Amino acid sequence: MKPTYYITTPIYYPSDKLHIGHSYTTVAADAMARYKRLRGYDVMFLTGTDEHGQKIQRKAEENGVSPQAYVDNIVNGIKDLWQLLDISYDRFIRTTDAKHEAAIQYIFKKLYDKGDIYKSEYEGWYCTPCESFWTETQLVEQKCPDCGRPVEKTREESYFFRLSRYQQRLIDLFEQNPDFIQPASRANEMLNNFLRPGLEDLCVSRTTFNWGVTVPFDTKHVVYVWIDALSNYITALGYPDQDGALRRYWPADVHLVGKEIVRFHTIIWPAMLMALDLPLPRQVFGHGWLLFKEGKMSKSRGNVIDPVVLCREFGVDAIRYFLLREVPFGSDGNFSNEALIGRINSDLANDLGNLVSRTAAMIDRYFPEGLPQDRQTEDLDHELIDDCLALQGKVQENMEQLQFSQALSEIWKVIGRSNKYIDETTPWILAKSPQQSPRLATVLFHLAEAIRIISVLLQPFMPSTPEKIWQTFGIVDPILKTWASCETFGLFQSVGMNKAQPLFPRLEMDKALAALDRLLAGESSAPKETGVTAEEKPKTKMAQPRTAGQVAAPEGLAFIEFSDFQKVDIKVGQILSCKPVEGSDKLLCSQVNMGDHVRQIVSGIAGSYQPEDLIGKQVIVVANLKPRKIRGSLSEGMLLCATTASGYRILTVEQVVEPGAEVS
Ligand code: MSP
Repeated sequence: MKPTYYITTPIYYPSDKLHIGHSYTTVAADAMARYKRLRGYDVMFLTGTDEHGQKIQRKAEENGVSPQAYVDNIVNGIKDLWQLLDISYDRFIRTTDAKHEAAIQYIFKKLYDKGDIYKSEYEGWYCTPCESFWTETQLVEQKCPDCGRPVEKTREESYFFRLSRYQQRLIDLFEQNPDFIQPASRANEMLNNFLRPGLEDLCVSRTTFNWGVTVPFDTKHVVYVWIDALSNYITALGYPDQDGALRRYWPADVHLVGKEIVRFHTIIWPAMLMALDLPLPRQVFGHGWLLFKEGKMSKSRGNVIDPVVLCREFGVDAIRYFLLREVPFGSDGNFSNEALIGRINSDLANDLGNLVSRTAAMIDRYFPEGLPQDRQTEDLDHELIDDCLALQGKVQENMEQLQFSQALSEIWKVIGRSNKYIDETTPWILAKSPQQSPRLATVLFHLAEAIRIISVLLQPFMPSTPEKIWQTFGIVDPILKTWASCETFGLFQSVGMNKAQPLFPRLEMDKALAALDRLLAGESSAPKETGVTAEEKPKTKMAQPRTAGQVAAPEGLAFIEFSDFQKVDIKVGQILSCKPVEGSDKLLCSQVNMGDHVRQIVSGIAGSYQPEDLIGKQVIVVANLKPRKIRGSLSEGMLLCATTASGYRILTVEQVVEPGAEVS
């Protein structure tokens, strides 16, 4: 049976769209999950959303929708983001899943029955953005010591978890398992700031809002959001059912978390597990923050970077590479557009891109039928071969420590070595003399093999680039793509090249920076820089231009920027069922398959269609219209229709497409 590997990300608050900082943790977890799968592990990679709590309830109220409708909408966007970033999670848990909620009630009751939870009164301070309690003495200048934001005075009847009971066992855990928290410096922080000064019991229920899991035996209380959230790591495996997935994957091999939530994961969570008599996770890795000019990214600082914009501009693999390469995992690091474009140009376009394109072009030009078997090796070759053979071990050593940047840096050393080998062996000179053909074939074979090994080892980091390289080099045998195949040098089979797949185009720093600034600021995303000036651009021929060379905005309407249009999420859906809305002769209520979920849409088209006319139709849906109730029925979007003198005509697609397809 395969060995198992269980890795988790924090479950994210769906209070807003996620930004590049959240993508950082998830991409790191994905690289690790892919690496372990390639090494033959049965991997469980869990991510999800932390949907309860005061913050979300307030957000939903501000938006005039129910908390559930609010989070449903954001969670759809989060899943789309993970799909875009090629995140290969195995499970996605939502804390509003019925099974999770039932498990939380079980946990709360179990701890209460054991005497680990008791009722009392809480008086202190609460930071709603962090959903954390603080005592007077812990506050820094009367603000939350974690995020620096204002705290609220709270006094309410509450249940408490006897955290103090676990103080000594936690100290022992830290002292006896130096690997439990990584990087190690974070362990000292926990010991000195929290554990040694003494743990107080933790308030674990709230009564001043109701968006949470109800305490089963005292229904005016909801369970504190961190108890609800931390438990996701076991409820996602089926807890309280102790067989099946829980038996197979628990304890987790590693919880990846940002440094600000290490405290919850290394103090509260292990204490909860001790109280539940469950084994503890093997490791909590607290990584650093991506910092921006104005500090940590946040909406209030106005420095939020949308990963979708970056992926559209530069491609997913480039963004994943940058996140994993730029900052050693564990430390804080700066994110800047200059650094991103710089890395794309130097590492991806120059180093990797040139190696691949030069080698592919030379093989194609000199040996279009494939490399001949007649070979001639020289001493010089061994340096490259040895570096290639040592590479897998170096990558593994770093990956086992979650040192993504270092692992990539090792791969890039071999890319550099290979480029140098081209300069040393000068294949274009060898190509001039037919007697040198065996030597030329050998050089190109070594380069192709180095590229094969590099591409196989790149798979955890970049999901699409290796496949493009294999296509170009005609690498089809699955064995040549396995992790184990990198233990051998010389497996490349030359069967002729295919058309080179473009990897990473070189960017003009100034133009790319300006375009990116515009896009991130949400301004006009002018058509991609083509170098064509406005005057040179072909003018669109209008049937009857109102003003020569210009298109006027329709009467009563202003022009909108392209970025305004981009704010509208339009998708193809398929109507599964449809019925009239009771009490209305205009409205029809449809259940629409959106690919990854079904949503309900109410439309005023009963005068033009019978419900049964619509079933099976593919329709165009405005998917991010704020949900609202129409005649008592929730409508989560709008179907687009043409308006004619005789009524509405539903817009549809010219050919059947997958439900959920983007319309742009
Ligand atoms: N819901 C809690 C976690 C519960 S886990 C049982 C939470 N959610 S969050 O949406 O605020 O996400 C926090 C996580 O996002 C951080 O721990 C970190 O992993 C990631 N990041 C958010 N901003 C980040 C940066 N600027 N840089 C790096 N990681 C960041 O806390």
